[in-house]
Amino acid sequence: MNRIVLIGYMYSGKSTFGSKIAKRLNYEFVDLDKAIEQKYHYTVEDIFAKFSEDIFRQIEKDMLKEVLKKEHIVIASGGGTPCFNNNMRLIKQEAISLYLQMSAEQLFSRMSVSKKPRPMLSCIAKDKRLEFIKQSLKQREKYYLKADIVVDGFNPNVDKTVEEILAFDNHK
Ligand code: S3P
Repeated sequence: MNRIVLIGYMYSGKSTFGSKIAKRLNYEFVDLDKAIEQKYHYTVEDIFAKFSEDIFRQIEKDMLKEVLKKEHIVIASGGGTPCFNNNMRLIKQEAISLYLQMSAEQLFSRMSVSKKPRPMLSCIAKDKRLEFIKQSLKQREKYYLKADIVVDGFNPNVDKTVEEILAFDNHK
């Protein structure tokens, strides 16, 4: 299996860690949101605002299918990707999945220093965001925890994770 998909909540560092893993394995790295933005010439934020979340989820599914056709690839998915349209089933079929796990409090503190706008959160009042993250993380972990490998997202270790990926692959 020469495809790896990183999953996890917004701000868990999927793109940063994913590109490190890709470099180590000498694989191509693709950020699913960026691939969508390049193909459709709209930012994710604009797709939510000008169209709808439903349209975004359809585009996201199509793009996931497209990138999963590639080989020797590490894909950073969006925070919602595994939770819609049976995407987690597809990810499990086609790739080794890696969940970057973090607590709601850790994610919230990352959010406070992030510059990239997230449409899922920008519509929530600032003083309600921690509660929102807690609740949606709880719902989303039903999907995230189906991942083949769970990594501590707060302190992820590239060498250890690559070893786990290789060991998992050998036993598959
Ligand atoms: C989303 C997460 C975002 C992006 C979109 C929706 C979500 O990706 O796909 O804004 O539903 O959690 P990141 O996890 O990279 O922020």
